[in-house]
Amino acid sequence: MAAGAAARREPGPGPGGEKRILCVGLVCLDIISVVEAYPAEDSDIRCVSQRWQRGGNASNSCTVLALLGAPCAFMGSLAPGHAADFIVADFRHRGVDMTHVAWQPRGDVPCACCVVSAANGSRTIVLYDTNLPDVTAHDFELVDFSQYKWIHWEARNAAEQAAMMRRVERYNRDQPAAERVRTSVEVEKPREELLPLLGLAHVVFISKDVARHFGYQSAPEALQGLHSRIQPGATLICAWAEEGADAIGPSGELVHSDAFPPETLVDTLGAGDTFNAAVIFALSAGRTLQDALTFGCQIAGRKCGIQGFDGIV
Ligand code: ADP
Ligand code: FRU
Repeated sequence: MAAGAAARREPGPGPGGEKRILCVGLVCLDIISVVEAYPAEDSDIRCVSQRWQRGGNASNSCTVLALLGAPCAFMGSLAPGHAADFIVADFRHRGVDMTHVAWQPRGDVPCACCVVSAANGSRTIVLYDTNLPDVTAHDFELVDFSQYKWIHWEARNAAEQAAMMRRVERYNRDQPAAERVRTSVEVEKPREELLPLLGLAHVVFISKDVARHFGYQSAPEALQGLHSRIQPGATLICAWAEEGADAIGPSGELVHSDAFPPETLVDTLGAGDTFNAAVIFALSAGRTLQDALTFGCQIAGRKCGIQGFDGIV
């Protein structure tokens, strides 16, 4: 363990001795304007409502895990200031552990201007995320794996994240099956340098964007085409908005769940993050891949029918 480890004491297991789920990735401030219909370029309109929300894929997944009742923790970067104050207060409000937040001495907390259209639930995101350093494999040395049952990464700084995943792999080699930490990664952006991460986790989530980047027009096609990139015995999952989600399990079995569309599509911001969290929640509780996929689509569907995350359970 690296120097400084003593300064970051893990809080111990959650209520009832339950181990936590750790999500590593982005936290940002989302400034969300809900509009009646998506505006034309260079127009000047009023929105129907506006709110600040803690955002970022890994951070949103923590929100959902907490709402589902799973003890969870977030690891990512922040820099002191108004945005971080808001974010920290919200993590606290949700009961998300922040022991492994890396406070950076320089850089801006990422901030997104999000336009959610009440007409169809679409979300258009403009993200400022340029100069805050990401957490490193060195920061990750402070994580005491015995406190976690699952670690999820949102693919970002791939080389550092690969080193983190390999460290978990080495730890697992010396553990009895019940003590091993399960791992997952979400590759959402079709960036070449993120692709090696596909081969490093037990459960791999790929997005429609990644699938399309490789020329696939559906989730089952993408799974067949990209299956050779994951490690033997791993699971590959691809969500596809209103088409639901598909997966290939450890022994090559194909699984599908339809979407569960809400009566009215209200807000799809963070639908994917909700899906990932619900799938991880179910798999980490020992449920089957089919159950987990169905649960993921149910909870994500509910999220699409409400503003924000309160009300998904
Ligand atoms: P994102 O674009 O936020 O990453 P995805 O398109 O990957 O989200 O969708 C994740 C899950 O959310 C889908 O598998 C589905 O269950 C649900 N979902 C997303 N959009 C819709 C929609 N329009 N109708 C019903 N369910 C949806
Ligand atoms: C939703 C989200 C938002 C954030 C953006 C970052 O999936 O995490 O909360 O603004 O994506 O890419």
